Amino acid sequence: QHCFRKSEDGFLYCEGLRVQDVMNQVEKRPFYLYSKPQIARNFEAYREALEGLRSIIGYAIKANNNLKILEHLRELGCGAVLVSGNELRLALRAGFDPTRCIFNGNGKLLEDLVLAAQEGVFVNVDSEFDLDNIISAARIAGKKVNVLLRINPDVDPQVHPYVATGNKNSKFGIRNEKLQWFLDAVKAHPNELKLVGAHCHLGSTITKVDIFRDAAVLMVNYIDEIRAQGFEISYLNIGGGLGIDYYHAGAVLPTPRDLIDTVRELVLSRDLNLIIEPGRSLIANTCCLVNRVIGVKTNGTKNFVVIDGSMAELIRPSLYDAYQHIELVSPPPSDAQISTFDVVGPVCESADFLGKDRELPTPPRGAGLVVHDAGAYCMSMASSYNLKMRPPEYWVEDDGSVSKIRHGETFEDHVRYFEGL
Ligand code: LLP
Repeated sequence: QHCFRKSEDGFLYCEGLRVQDVMNQVEKRPFYLYSKPQIARNFEAYREALEGLRSIIGYAIKANNNLKILEHLRELGCGAVLVSGNELRLALRAGFDPTRCIFNGNGKLLEDLVLAAQEGVFVNVDSEFDLDNIISAARIAGKKVNVLLRINPDVDPQVHPYVATGNKNSKFGIRNEKLQWFLDAVKAHPNELKLVGAHCHLGSTITKVDIFRDAAVLMVNYIDEIRAQGFEISYLNIGGGLGIDYYHAGAVLPTPRDLIDTVRELVLSRDLNLIIEPGRSLIANTCCLVNRVIGVKTNGTKNFVVIDGSMAELIRPSLYDAYQHIELVSPPPSDAQISTFDVVGPVCESADFLGKDRELPTPPRGAGLVVHDAGAYCMSMASSYNLKMRPPEYWVEDDGSVSKIRHGETFEDHVRYFEGL
């Protein structure tokens, strides 16, 4: 069962709590509200799906880098996928086992690769210069690095172009024409590199598992080719990218089990360890951005609900034209008229919208309004534009109590950057 549900009494609940009651209890500003048990349920779905396979679930920290959430996922048994030195440092601080961490990226810095080499994390090779830096890092750290080749499989993930990564002209990974060059380069550096596997990541918000299957078929062929040259590689990393049901309109989307089942036989046939890198499908649906209605207005043919949250806290609608479901947390007054609204924030940009053309009962001032599925790529992409300052985060604990899991940023935090200059 899902953590956020509208009950028959017309109130939105997070686990056993009315979101309205949580609003009355915490700061009067937009905030993120998570369910801790939902995070565990989402992880469990992956863990169960992977039974019978040797595997690593590498949670993509970029989706949500709250330290409390990272610690929770680590306790549950997760590994981590990192794309910067600071994500690596945070993963270490959260206690992740470095040998269950994977360092990804097309522009990894030498100093960060040195840390990765020292700690013994897997490193994905993205380009010629990247390989060069990994070799240098291995020498500086005095450690052999376990590497996977990130192969660009040229598979169309059928998603928004900004979140497609495995197509031929993308900036990520190695094209097959160059595979032999990389194998020769790895062979020439036996003291610095150990090739342990192959990686691909197709993109994000993928809602058809056939796409993963097509990529996995290509990848095991590459693995056969690489093994035929004497490399003893044992890891297939198929990346992340499973989409979620943002629309809340009753569609049936593939589950973690559907994803794993579509590649299971391939993985077993080559006796491989499977690495997956889920971000969104682990964390997105565990959270809502909770906002207050400031007022309602009409201009021309458009009706607007103006809320205190904005593109600063949640940029996905503005950046990718993404749909995230919006609803009121309490029953509207019985005479509230239903109209079509754009739900907008107070930021000085016309790109500042959370939802367009939404049918909603006209909300009274001060009403609570949530944007669903805000656990992934919302807080981690938030900014302090217009000095909105990043919001606080709370979660509902297993025992039903509410705890703060990140302080909201304040005006004083901003002013502090100028002290002593
Ligand atoms: N592995 C790699 C190498 C990635 O680049 C990504 C995401 C993931 C794993 C995790 O993918 P997920 O399971 O979360 O789909 N900001 C965009 C999404 C960007 C995804 C970037 N890469 C959004 O808000 O939709």
